[in-house]
Amino acid sequence: MDRTQSPKSALFAVWTILLVLTVNGQSGCGTHRFDNNMVFTDCNALSALGSFLHWTFNEQNSTVSIAFRHPGTSSSSWISWGINPSGPQMVGTQSLVAFTNSSGQFQVYTSPVISYNTQLGSGSLSFPVSGLSATLVGGEATIFATLELPSNLISTSQVWQIGPVVNGNPARHQTSGENMRSSGRIDFRSGQSTASGGGSGDRQTKRNRHGVLNAVSWGVLMPMGAMMARYMKVFADPTWFYLHIAFQVSGYVIGVAGWATGIKLGNDSPGTSFSTHRNLGIALFTFATLQVFALLLRPKPDHKYRIYWNVYHHAVGYTTIILSIVNIFKGFDILDPADKWRWAYIGILIFLGACVLILEPLTWFIVLRRKSRGGNTVAAPTSNKYSNGVNGTSATGPYHQDA
Ligand SMILES: *[C@@H]1O[C@H](CO)[C@@H](O)[C@H](O)[C@H]1NC(C)=O
Ligand SMILES: *[C@@H]1O[C@H](CO)[C@@H](O)[C@H](O)[C@H]1NC(C)=O
Ligand SMILES: *[C@@H]1O[C@H](CO)[C@@H](O)[C@H](O)[C@H]1NC(C)=O
Repeated sequence: MDRTQSPKSALFAVWTILLVLTVNGQSGCGTHRFDNNMVFTDCNALSALGSFLHWTFNEQNSTVSIAFRHPGTSSSSWISWGINPSGPQMVGTQSLVAFTNSSGQFQVYTSPVISYNTQLGSGSLSFPVSGLSATLVGGEATIFATLELPSNLISTSQVWQIGPVVNGNPARHQTSGENMRSSGRIDFRSGQSTASGGGSGDRQTKRNRHGVLNAVSWGVLMPMGAMMARYMKVFADPTWFYLHIAFQVSGYVIGVAGWATGIKLGNDSPGTSFSTHRNLGIALFTFATLQVFALLLRPKPDHKYRIYWNVYHHAVGYTTIILSIVNIFKGFDILDPADKWRWAYIGILIFLGACVLILEPLTWFIVLRRKSRGGNTVAAPTSNKYSNGVNGTSATGPYHQDA
């Protein structure tokens, strides 16, 4: 028997946690790193047009430093963000505008929007603005500015927009879909921003529901089901098998419900592309469905192909779990709930990881001790209909001995 499997599995667990933390630290809202090393205390993924607002509110002098970020900006589009004391609408917006001008430079200026026919001309806003700058790097546009807010604008409406540049000037933006839903409330002091219009409040509820369903199913039930299979076998055979099935099937049912809400959310907002999150979600659904069919097509324990089935089942299973965790963190970046939810989930992962670190050597200890006592009846019961049919002797530990 190959004893190196045990440290390998422990490494695997540690690696998974590291991977999660790395992925979590790479992109998204709260964890985005700006090239100029600016750091902001708050961030919201805005409810439309795949944009983000980062800001730091300074209570003493009532100033707010903001960064409006829009990934996927070409040199032939303009971006704009502003606040509007008269409501979540275009006219009245005190806006910041940036686009690549005819000299090929990414230009930024302030523009008070006074009519629906605005050419987004330059002009001063109703409050002082300083530190105005903008960058367009790798297709990601960002406007930086510091606004000195009158007290009635600390909690106000925000409006943002993306449109084409024609003949070196900003031209009319689309008047359908996400372009008509890109407004909402913002409270710089409390850190809240909410969507408005187009039933967005309802949309936020749907997004939250999608997050909870998927985090519970893919992110908790399925990893626990895998742990049942791996660690309960030595203690409770064949109970582990039924628990494994119960956890994975309930995880799958809740997971598919969560997945469907995600697909629906994606289809409802064609302008917003969280394509990695969506593609991973589709891959995960495919893998999990394959696992369900694999269960039905499982060869008999003593069938000579059963070993290949086991390898396949483990490979797809572990891949699904790792990708699920990655995708849950991608989801956190998009949904951007209060930090406590992200930490709560990281806490659950650390707990599960700790269980793995304890149970893995324990399982090995029990398996090896039973072996040395001259029987492999529990570790690899040849008579048991759930075992894998290689009689345990050629298996490399519990890793290859479960059904
Ligand atoms: C407001 O206060 C912060 C910190 O005290 C300071 O960095 C900033 O320059 C001030 N801004 C203005 C416009 O006074
Ligand atoms: C383009 O933007 C740069 C930087 O703001 C500015 O210096 C330049 O005059 C602009 N060019 C035109 C044609 O407006
Ligand atoms: C398992 O062991 C039994 C009895 O020792 C033997 O008949 C059978 O061929 C073995 N199966 C495999 C797959 O090695």
